[in-house]
Amino acid sequence: MNTTIPKANVYEKTGLPEMGLRNYWYPVFATWRLKIRRPKAIRILGEEIVLFRNKNQVFALNNQCAHRGARLSEGSCIYPHTDTLTCPYHGWTYSGETGKCVAKLMEGPKTKISVEARVKTYPVREHLGIIWLFIGDMPAVPLEEDLPECLSNTQEWHTIATWRTYNCNWRPLNDNLCYDLHAPFVHRNSPELIFQPIFPFASKVTTTKLEDGKGLGYTARGGISEENYPNLGKFPPPSEAFWRKLNPIGRGKELNPQTSQATKLYGIKYRHMSRLPTVTLVGRPSGDYFMCRWVTPIDSKRTLFYSVNAYRRKSKITTILDKLSWMLWHSWVHDWIFSDQDKKIVEEVRSDREQLSLSDAGVISWRKFMVENARNPNDGNKPKL
Ligand code: FES
Ligand SMILES: [Fe+2]
Repeated sequence: MNTTIPKANVYEKTGLPEMGLRNYWYPVFATWRLKIRRPKAIRILGEEIVLFRNKNQVFALNNQCAHRGARLSEGSCIYPHTDTLTCPYHGWTYSGETGKCVAKLMEGPKTKISVEARVKTYPVREHLGIIWLFIGDMPAVPLEEDLPECLSNTQEWHTIATWRTYNCNWRPLNDNLCYDLHAPFVHRNSPELIFQPIFPFASKVTTTKLEDGKGLGYTARGGISEENYPNLGKFPPPSEAFWRKLNPIGRGKELNPQTSQATKLYGIKYRHMSRLPTVTLVGRPSGDYFMCRWVTPIDSKRTLFYSVNAYRRKSKITTILDKLSWMLWHSWVHDWIFSDQDKKIVEEVRSDREQLSLSDAGVISWRKFMVENARNPNDGNKPKL
């Protein structure tokens, strides 16, 4: 008798949907990659979407023609002075603004067009060189409602964004970005950190709801940078430790409200925050920089990972220096090497069992917060964030 019991996915218990949190804006595509009259197929939260640009405005439609299901992304913008996209099969032509079929080219201009001859439209915005889509079941909220201040206030901040595609569900990647103490271990030998003492582990992590109610701030107290483990020896082992001679650069240290510039000048209370839908912010004690990491589910097995580096605008010179330091250092050291240390682990995480432990305090709190506070148009009792 076959007694194999199918293993449940641990995330089923959490209540976090496999395809991601609906009713939010997500970054989906770099603006420069969408050329005029060159439609692009994308998939976001499992939905098949075609992006196209006509008259220099971007539109997003469901990618399945209402007639007999051809992919609109294989079609073309044959009327460039309008907002339309034409299906490659029999020429049904859709308005990008309304999604309505405005002409059936193979049936003549007098043919009747029913109200069902339409495809779903998606609210779309271009911002920070990124195309953003609102995926959901309710009218779109303004994009700014879903952005942290450092991404919405372009007077005060300038940004540089990159993206990677992860071959995994969005939930393990989302877990990776909470304060789960993987960083002192996984990244200890990254080029950025290899000459510094390991930043503190075994700290006690607590979480606090942010003032706007849209996320959590993490606070880590205590922590050590080396320890002796019975029968094993020291961590980090002496073979790894002798080159760690630089002064720590402050990573892993909390903002001190009395002395921290971030708190005194800008009122920033946390260096590490998670915000709905799936955004992680990691800042510097200066308050002049945030690394914003946005997890956009593609489908159940793939995820788009947007890294948006946000720098406070101080002067023209510092803006140029920020860009230079990103190009010469941060882009490859952090956005590439450091991040890929996570990627190869996260893509292989198995989700059939887990034993949450002391280091998972941030993961547990953030999962719970997301389930309890995510925007949900069907639940009148929940706060509409
Ligand atoms: S399938 Fe699109 S026009 Fe026929
Ligand atoms: Fe990491």
